[in-house]
This record gives sequence, C-alpha cells and structure tokens, in this order.
Amino acid sequence: FDRGSLSGKRVFITAGPTREALDPVRYISNHSSGKMGYALAEAAVDAGAKVTLISGPVNLPAPQRCERIMVESAEQMLAASLEHIDECDIFIASAAVADFRPVAVAEHKLKKGTEEIMELRLVKNPDIVASVAARQNKPFTVGFAAETRDVVHYAQDKLSRKNLDLIIANDVSRSDIGFNSDDNAVTVVSHDDVQQLPLSSKRQLASKLIEIIAAHQEN
Ligand code: C5P
Repeated sequence: FDRGSLSGKRVFITAGPTREALDPVRYISNHSSGKMGYALAEAAVDAGAKVTLISGPVNLPAPQRCERIMVESAEQMLAASLEHIDECDIFIASAAVADFRPVAVAEHKLKKGTEEIMELRLVKNPDIVASVAARQNKPFTVGFAAETRDVVHYAQDKLSRKNLDLIIANDVSRSDIGFNSDDNAVTVVSHDDVQQLPLSSKRQLASKLIEIIAAHQEN
C-alpha cells in the first residue's frame, strides 16, 4: 500500500443512509451502516489525501484526520457535496441515498385517523453522484452499484448513464456481504476493465479500492 498515492488530493466521500422526513417524528430510510464509506475515508487519509466525509446518520465515530459533515436528507447531502466541489479531485459516492422523499413534510405529527389504508406520495430525490459527474470540471467520480443479478452488465450501464469514471459493484443477493456486514466482495468496473476483488474485510477492501482509484485517476 503506497502511503503517498493520494498525497495532496482532495477526496469527498458520501456515506451512510439518508433520512427523508414525513413529519417532525417520522422518516423513511434504509439499513445502510456507513461502514464501507467510513473505511474508504480512513484508507484515503492513510494514502495522504485531504478527506471530507459527507455522512448521513450512522453509529460510527468520525475517522481521524478527516473532516466530517453530518447531514440527514438527500437534499442536504447534495448541498453539502456541491458546496466546495470545485476543490474536489476525487468524489466517491458510497451513500445509500433514498430514491424518493415524501412530497411534503407535515408541520405537525400525522394523526392515525380511522382509515385502514394510508397513502404516501413520494417524489424522486436528486441523484447526487450524477449531479457531480455532470459538472464541466468534474472530479474523478466513483459510484457504487448494489445489484442482485447481472452485476457487471448493470454496473457498465450505470457507469455510462451517470457519466462516472469507476463503479464498485456488489452482489446484494448474497447474505454474507454488503450492507450491514463487516465483509464485502466487489467487482470494480471501469470503461475498459472489469476487476473482481475477493471477499475480505471492508477495511482491507477499502485500502485496495483506494489503491485502484489512485491508479485510475492518474491516467
Ligand atoms: O442508481 P443507483 O441508486 O443504483 O446508484 C447507486 C450510486 O449512485 C451510488 O454510488 C450512490 O451513492 C449514488 N446515488 C446518489 N444519489 C442518489 C442515488 C444514488 O449519489 N439519489
């Protein structure tokens, strides 16, 4: 592991879930633990980068020597991601952003009422990594893809559709890896290459991924 491979580089990493408020006490979210993003932040710091971690609500301490910005919703995560984007060399989107949010946030706690069925109206959230990659002076942009089948095929599609430079894909149909697990096995997909990384701890994997990202962004 080359400790200086990202020396002087500014790296932004989104991590964890987002929370989309329904009313003052309720939200829609997901089970993302943030472990992969936090491990990537640590590995990037170790490689000499100046790291900003833009994190949804998780139960993890801030990595050392790293700036952490805590956010709740996808819209807040987008705003935090774009605020200093012109200083960013490498953008890594590991957050599990909620695809939709409630159309409106009720000012007061929603009441049960007497109806057996309650309907929720949702509106699509902005795509954070695609917004970053759509910029004229875009940083080297890395996304994640969680798939249950045809992992490489969907990753390649996402790579071009979102204008990314690299996709880290994992097969979430396997229960031993991904989301809340401490381990992960991924496939790294670039525009001209597919590389499988074997099952290992998220920590080890993060070091390897940072090495691969450093090598790619030099080109
Ligand atoms: O389209 P899909 O959600 O599968 O794409 C996953 C990738 O896109 C991840 O890198 C995730 O962090 C990013 N993403 C995002 N903003 C969204 C949805 C996904 O940055 N609203």
